[in-house]
Amino acid sequence: MTDHSPEIDNHSGVETTGHEWDGIRELNNPLPRWWLYLFYACIAFAFGYWVLMPAWPGLPGMSGATPGILHASDRAKVAGELSALARDRAALSAKLATLDAASILKDPQLRQQALALGESTFGDNCATCHGPGGRGGKGYPRLADDVWLWGGSLADIEQTIRYGVRSGNPKARVIDMPAFGRDEFLKPAQIDDLVEYVMHLSGQPADEAAVARASQVFIDNCKTCHGAAGTGDRSRGVPNLTDADWLYGGDRATIRRTIFGPRGGVMPAWGDRFDPATVRALAIYVHSLGGGE
Ligand code: HEC
Ligand code: HEC
Repeated sequence: MTDHSPEIDNHSGVETTGHEWDGIRELNNPLPRWWLYLFYACIAFAFGYWVLMPAWPGLPGMSGATPGILHASDRAKVAGELSALARDRAALSAKLATLDAASILKDPQLRQQALALGESTFGDNCATCHGPGGRGGKGYPRLADDVWLWGGSLADIEQTIRYGVRSGNPKARVIDMPAFGRDEFLKPAQIDDLVEYVMHLSGQPADEAAVARASQVFIDNCKTCHGAAGTGDRSRGVPNLTDADWLYGGDRATIRRTIFGPRGGVMPAWGDRFDPATVRALAIYVHSLGGGE
């Protein structure tokens, strides 16, 4: 490359820059206007941006980048949104924990929020035993029907959830059916008759002679809890034996096994694990599953 003084290109009539490479000379055409203005605009924008927005990192005496006079920060924005969410949640929790259930159910927005919280908590903690949507399983009562061991009002349900059943909590609901077979309160023949009696109570085919023999044994041993007619006692968690709804099962073998020794299923006390608002949300959710009273 050689350096010449500016001269005019014969071919185009345009001044050259004086730069030449292997006989190719550079014309000194002006930059296109649009390009030039865009270029100046970019420079102006960059200066504006540096001043207004966080821009230059690593300056001495600065922990992050220069903050810019707008103090824009995505992190601060997210933190603000999160704390607004936490405020909303705290307000919800306070209302759920302090308002009585009837007022919560009357407020559509509050009811909706309680149901959402209850449903997600249920899915994570209760569905393992009670099944998805509370459909129940052997030994784990169905919560989506109107058959209740311990009562189906909001207050009943909430108490069951808070303190549990045979959970070890001092306020837990507790009732233990005696182990009639294991502890030899009754003879095997009496238990056989009682199995027929329970079959009969629940409307299933049964040996009539056995039913007749068992009726007094039932009065003597079972009436105090299950009632003379076998309809149970919802104030004490005693199941109704006359319906088709079974906690453990209505076939002969299962009934015999239940009379032989108690099952004593354990329902944990969730009040030890969740705050009052969550317990109430759970109660509202369970109450909404279909059998709430
Ligand atoms: C470890 C298994 C287990 C888990 C987990 C569990 N439960 Fe239970 N639950 C039981 C058993 C067993 C009973 C029946 C106790 C009895 O024999 O009275 C029961 C009973 C209940 C009842 C009373 C039903 C009635 O008919 O009166 C309610 C309400 C209930 N559970 C709600 C819940 C909720 C809500 C959760 C989650 C926070 C939950 N349970 C988690 C085992 C469980
Ligand atoms: C102290 C009260 C009590 C007495 C007395 C009692 N039961 Fe029970 N029974 C219960 C309770 C509570 C349950 C719920 C099962 C459990 O969790 O142990 C139950 C459950 C049953 C079940 C299972 C029901 C189901 O849905 O699966 C049968 C059957 C039964 N009892 C029959 C009897 C018979 C028969 C007698 C008399 C020989 C009797 N019970 C005496 C309290 C009692």
